[in-house]
Amino acid sequence: MDSTPELCSMRHLTTCSLTLLLASLIRGQMLNGDEGRPSCSRCDLHLSCNCSYSGFTSVPKVTDQALSLDLSFNNITMVTQDDLMGLSRLRALDLHGNRLAVIHPSAFDPLWSLEELDLSDNQLTTLNHNWFSKLEVLQQLNLLDNPYSRLGSPSLFYGLVRLRRLMFGGSDLKELRTGDLLGVTELDELTVHANNLARYDSGTLGDIWPLGHVTLSLHGPFLTNVTLAAAVLADISYPETQISLEDLHLVGNQSVGPFRESAKRRIRHLSFRNFSVSDQSIVDLLVVIDGVPISVISMEDVTLTGGRKPVGPITKASTNSFSEMLWC
Ligand SMILES: *[C@@H]1O[C@H](CO)[C@@H](O)[C@H](O)[C@H]1NC(C)=O
Ligand SMILES: *[C@@H]1O[C@H](CO)[C@@H](O)[C@H](O)[C@H]1NC(C)=O
Ligand SMILES: *[C@@H]1O[C@H](CO)[C@@H](O)[C@H](O)[C@H]1NC(C)=O
Ligand SMILES: *[C@@H]1O[C@H](CO)[C@@H](O)[C@H](O)[C@H]1NC(C)=O
Ligand SMILES: *[C@@H]1O[C@H](CO)[C@@H](O)[C@H](O)[C@H]1NC(C)=O
Repeated sequence: MDSTPELCSMRHLTTCSLTLLLASLIRGQMLNGDEGRPSCSRCDLHLSCNCSYSGFTSVPKVTDQALSLDLSFNNITMVTQDDLMGLSRLRALDLHGNRLAVIHPSAFDPLWSLEELDLSDNQLTTLNHNWFSKLEVLQQLNLLDNPYSRLGSPSLFYGLVRLRRLMFGGSDLKELRTGDLLGVTELDELTVHANNLARYDSGTLGDIWPLGHVTLSLHGPFLTNVTLAAAVLADISYPETQISLEDLHLVGNQSVGPFRESAKRRIRHLSFRNFSVSDQSIVDLLVVIDGVPISVISMEDVTLTGGRKPVGPITKASTNSFSEMLWC
């Protein structure tokens, strides 16, 4: 007789603990599924999600409908296999300015629609061709300013048949080897940061045509290995190609040599930015391009370093003050 209420409360207890157990199971599942992943819902009506400058240390969850995702200037260190799952509509992904050191080989596989990918200014020491192997409609890829010393083989870009804008290199880039750009056919824009390049296989950049606008930083090669600088310049010099050279310091007898090849190929557009040049070298440069039907030479941010007695920067021309010298 006494046992009935006891039984009742026991049953009640059991139900209670079952409920609790169930609740914790569900919670556990959510934790397992999403690892307590942060999410970002800063998406506008056009499904453009701007999650930049938010202190994220991992890739946040966003709606599967997202068309563009800006994750720049966070503290993201890796992209896992599952982080971008479901984002099959995404057209642009910006991871610029994080601390990315690890990307799973198939992390970007779900991104069938991706047209623009920015991985610049991160901590990637090696690049993996598997990252890009499913990105068949990719048009723009920015790999600038990561600490890799080479692009590596097989070619990162093989299969990217729609690629039209490519940026790579950084202060750690040491070598560019035959085949590194295999698969890159025509480009509207090519930017290569190669201020410390020590080895270049002639022809590496030579198969890209048409080639719209090329920006090269070749500070080191112009000072220490003009043969290398000349080989790079020769490979991208076409009359139709606009050539911008950055961070050059031309001094001494040899330093304008690399322009001879470009001159022979009758380049028409040449511009210099962050350019430091001695009086003699600028004269030498004019001699080299004498007779070439150049239509535009522009210079921005030029420092003249004087002549035989190096007296340091004499004139620091401000941006544009020296630009658009027209040669008709
Ligand atoms: C996202 O917001 C930042 C400022 O918080 C802005 O600089 C950036 O241009 C925005 N990104 C896009 C894709 O609109
Ligand atoms: C990234 O983390 C560092 C140190 O952990 C912090 O100083 C910095 O402000 C963070 N940056 C962003 C954009 O959150
Ligand atoms: C200059 O670069 C070329 C081409 O990469 C290389 O073969 C040569 O060894 C380099 N010379 C020096 C002195 O580093
Ligand atoms: C300009 O070029 C010099 C090398 O000549 C480099 O050290 C410096 O960082 C460059 N400045 C900018 C603003 O890129
Ligand atoms: C400059 O180069 C020319 C030929 O290459 C050579 O005759 C001349 O002596 C060199 N001048 C100096 C100052 O090195």
